[in-house]
Amino acid sequence: MLAAHCPSAVLCLLLACTALTTAAAAGSSDAGSGRGSWRKPGFCGNMDCPEYTVWQKNFDFQVREYREAAWVAVNVSGVRYELAVKAALPLLSQYFWGANKEGLRLQETVPLVTHYRLDVHPHTGERRTYSVFWFIPYEYQAEPPEPSHPALWLYRSPANATMFVRMFGHHAREWRVPSGVLVASYNHPSKHHPHLPRRYHHSEVWMRGTFNKSAPPPPAR
Ligand SMILES: *[C@@H]1O[C@H](CO)[C@@H](O)[C@H](O)[C@H]1NC(C)=O
Ligand SMILES: *[C@@H]1O[C@H](CO)[C@@H](O)[C@H](O)[C@H]1NC(C)=O
Ligand SMILES: *[C@@H]1O[C@H](CO)[C@@H](O)[C@H](O)[C@H]1NC(C)=O
Repeated sequence: MLAAHCPSAVLCLLLACTALTTAAAAGSSDAGSGRGSWRKPGFCGNMDCPEYTVWQKNFDFQVREYREAAWVAVNVSGVRYELAVKAALPLLSQYFWGANKEGLRLQETVPLVTHYRLDVHPHTGERRTYSVFWFIPYEYQAEPPEPSHPALWLYRSPANATMFVRMFGHHAREWRVPSGVLVASYNHPSKHHPHLPRRYHHSEVWMRGTFNKSAPPPPAR
């Protein structure tokens, strides 16, 4: 039933992986490691990134439960994914470089997360609305500085949010991004930060879901 509703290759892959992982995780010792043991993943480099607990995983797929997190965001409409990120970055960068009410300069973080919705109107046709989020550094998570630009807004993502995450080692492309999912890019700092080498070739597709932590793992095949 799920396969029949796959809106894209990635989502189908994601769903296929879910079945695979469920079986694979049965014997996995570190699935479900607690918050106390969270260590920043390697693809975050030395930058701050959101904290999560991994409940199940295989080599390129994870079920994660995120902590509450603060983000600065901007909405962009009517463009492709790549163009939305390109349009959003200058504004978001300015916020990090001091365009906020306190005039604070923030350390750059990862990831940059893009969410898009596809709205279909009877008269104007398809319209895409992208929201591009940039993670606020740990130091300012509790009280992020107010953006100076009216197009920027602060967002607090909920605690205990479960995400089904597919990881891949390159940039996300429009065809891989079905409506309603989140795309997390860990590649962006190298694009506009002259002091960082181009080494963050890591992207993820996040899909919100529910996961029963108390259910016993399915029998291994
Ligand atoms: C941006 O889009 C989100 C989701 O549609 C909405 O909740 C938010 O109010 C919008 N913010 C601005 C500043 O337009
Ligand atoms: C959310 O996660 C925190 C930290 O693990 C936990 O203490 C809390 O009980 C969780 N809340 C819900 C509603 O699951
Ligand atoms: C989660 O799994 C436990 C153990 O199998 C079960 O008792 C419980 O009803 C499940 N909860 C939900 C919300 O499905």
